[in-house]
Order: sequence, then structure tokens, then C-alpha cells
Amino acid sequence: MNEPFPAPVTLETDRLTLRPPTAEDVDALTAACQDPEIQRWTVVPSPYRRADAEFFVEKLAAPGWAQGSATWCVVERTTGELVGTQALSHRGPGRAEIGYWATAGARGRGLTLEAVREVCRWGFAERGLRRIDWTAYVGNEPSHRLAVKAGFTVEGVLRSWAEQRGVFHDVWMGSLLAGEAGLPG
Ligand SMILES: CC(C)(COP(=O)(O)OP(=O)(O)OC[C@H]1O[C@@H](n2cnc3c(N)ncnc32)[C@H](O)[C@@H]1OP(=O)(O)O)[C@@H](O)C(=O)NCCC(=O)NCCS
Repeated sequence: MNEPFPAPVTLETDRLTLRPPTAEDVDALTAACQDPEIQRWTVVPSPYRRADAEFFVEKLAAPGWAQGSATWCVVERTTGELVGTQALSHRGPGRAEIGYWATAGARGRGLTLEAVREVCRWGFAERGLRRIDWTAYVGNEPSHRLAVKAGFTVEGVLRSWAEQRGVFHDVWMGSLLAGEAGLPG
């Protein structure tokens, strides 16, 4: 993650394809980000408009790869439907931060856990990461449970750490290290 990616990467799991976002995802991204829980717990704009999804695809996700930050649309292979997004963002030498959301209708089926495990495997095995950070605003219990299931250790609370639309939140900080959770060291 210290260097630009030579090219965006597509990842596969049992049920999912994780692929770089394209203009064809704009409608589904716009629909998904109307969800109050995504707006409550992430930095997506609120209200969320079609132009915000276009900005995400063209100005954040696409150039991000060249700057060492990977972003994927997560698609369920049997239906071809968008079920979430994943991101792995460069934070320092050998260190990146994972971020994710799931569409409201796709939650509770283990799809995000499956995607998180694959993103972490890729980050350690193929990008040589040492540590993956996880942060969530204090109180985001579903994200906390997911991170723990994926093998992250929650290290504590960082006070007034993360800005969301002009407001600073306390966050839980956690990490997964290379070699943990059955991943290659
Ligand atoms: C946090 C969030 C991404 C979790 O997504 P999800 O798709 O529901 O997560 P999963 O389905 O992988 O896991 C959730 C539950 O499904 C259960 N589950 C059901 N079937 C499963 C299966 N086959 N395999 C594994 N887990 C399964 C898990 O045990 C888990 O249960 P729990 O919440 O009671 O612990 C989702 O709630 C979300 O998008 N929230 C709003 C945005 C957000 O908070 N993003 C994170 C910011 S830090």
C-alpha cells in the first residue's frame, strides 16, 4: 500500500465479486446511500444525491487506486446486485484502514464479513501490509461485532478523532496484524 497500485484489482469470494466502481454503479450507489444507517455511521454526504455517487466513482474511487487506496463495489454474483462497498485506504508505511457499508437489504447474511476477510487477505498477502486499522464511531455496534468476528482487536477509544460533516466523533480504534486471523504473516 505504500506505492500506487499498478492497476485496479478485482477480487472473488464464494458469493461475491469485489470490483472497481464504474459509471454503471451510480444508480445502485445512489439508492443504497439513501439508507439512514449508512448516512449515520459513515462520511457519505447527507442528503445523498446522484451527483455524489458520480463524484465517488470518478473523483474518489478511480484516482484513489493510483494513490494507494483501493475501493470496490461488492456485487453478489448470483444476482449481479450491489450489496456494499469496501475500501482499503493508505494510512502510513505498511498500514491501511478498512472501511465498508452494506446495502440495507443485504445485511445479516455474512456478506460483509466475507468481503472484509478477502480485503484483509489481499492487503496482507498481496500488498504486504503490516497492520490494517478499523475505526467506527463509538456506538456502532454492528460494525464492532463484524470487526471482532473478522479478527480485529479493539484497542480503545480515540476522543474527538473523526470528522463527519463538520462534527467530530469519538471512535473505537482496532487493528488486525499480518499473521492474525489465519492470514499469512
Ligand atoms: C456494519 C454493517 C456493514 C454490517 O454489515 P452486514 O452485511 O450486516 O454484516 P454481516 O452480515 O457480515 O454480519 C452481520 C451479522 O450477520 C450474521 N450472519 C448471518 N449469516 C451469516 C453467515 N453466513 N456468515 C457469517 N455471518 C452471518 C453475523 O453473525 C452477524 O450477526 P451479528 O450482527 O448479530 O453479530 C452494516 O450494518 C452497515 O452497512 N451499517 C451502516 C454503515 C456502517 O456502519 N458502516 C461501517 C462504518 S465503521
